[in-house]
Amino acid sequence: MICPSPFKFHFEVAQMSLRAANLIAAGANSLSGTPLSFRSPSMSRVSASADALTTVPLATKGASFIRKHLQTLAPYTPIEPFEILSARLGRHPKDIVKLDANENPYGPPPEVLEALGSMEFPNIYPDPESRRLRAALAEDTGIGAEHILVGCGADELIDLIMRCTLDPGDKILDCPPTFTMYAFDAAVNGASVIKVPRLPGFALDVPSIVDTVRQQNPKIVFLTSPNNPDGCLVSDDELKTILDLPVLVVLDEAYVEFAREPSRINWVTNYENLIVLRTFSKRAGLAGLRVGYGAFPLSLIEYLWRAKQPYNVSVAAEVAACAALTNPKYLELMLV
Ligand SMILES: Cc1ncc(COP(=O)(O)O)c(C=O)c1O
Repeated sequence: MICPSPFKFHFEVAQMSLRAANLIAAGANSLSGTPLSFRSPSMSRVSASADALTTVPLATKGASFIRKHLQTLAPYTPIEPFEILSARLGRHPKDIVKLDANENPYGPPPEVLEALGSMEFPNIYPDPESRRLRAALAEDTGIGAEHILVGCGADELIDLIMRCTLDPGDKILDCPPTFTMYAFDAAVNGASVIKVPRLPGFALDVPSIVDTVRQQNPKIVFLTSPNNPDGCLVSDDELKTILDLPVLVVLDEAYVEFAREPSRINWVTNYENLIVLRTFSKRAGLAGLRVGYGAFPLSLIEYLWRAKQPYNVSVAAEVAACAALTNPKYLELMLV
């Protein structure tokens, strides 16, 4: 474990400011994407319903249709949108430094807005195989396009991986503190979460991970390098040790470009049990357009193709991501 990592993005500082920003500016009490409580608009309408046929509270009636494991799911509170935050604080969005979701404050390269402004066919469904973007990513990452699947953010891929691999009652393992979507999606998918906490200083407790995998047989181990929220990196040795276990390893590299350490994306050609996730949200400032990607061993990827929503990556998202990749200089500058 290499801790702390030499981020140019001042990752840790951003993370420290994050709590303050939550309290002072955003008022949102979460780390990036931390599940808290989702206030669905329809929920607040239930009690006000004047529907004469509703003789029992709608929540009770409706709940009987919900899958058992979801009836007790802790709800999710998304990050407060910029417009709402700005209205609440009475400040222009440009005057707010928003740090609570690790968005890139600099935004995408100018080519992105140009490309979005001249999109030709927003009326046509997108390419279900995101061919143009996967070809550009193959060039960008050095791994073959056949290993790459694009999603509506890395978030979608985390859920898709779980939908394809987890049977009800299966377990995943993660190492808190870390990105909380792994635990949230596991709960949605009827899996339980084994937590192997990080050591003081946020290093992975690899011996404990090894023991826990051997004893409790989780199906997936989620590793995050650099980790959200502390920025610690997973070393080659640690990764190899965990890959030698009989478990699927998802290595989330959402912030890898800021670490100045090589990505392990090409390791998926050597390990049948490794998936590497990356995103345009951080590096390319495209969090709002929702585009992330994963690299998979060929033996796994075909099942994800079968299960994914056909039009998961919008025309706008693909156009924007392709345009961002045409300006590697800008993307590189953002890391300085
Ligand atoms: C570690 C980590 N992985 C994945 C994501 C989500 O990425 P995306 O915006 O591509 O869904 C985040 C977002 O904050 C993150 O911190």
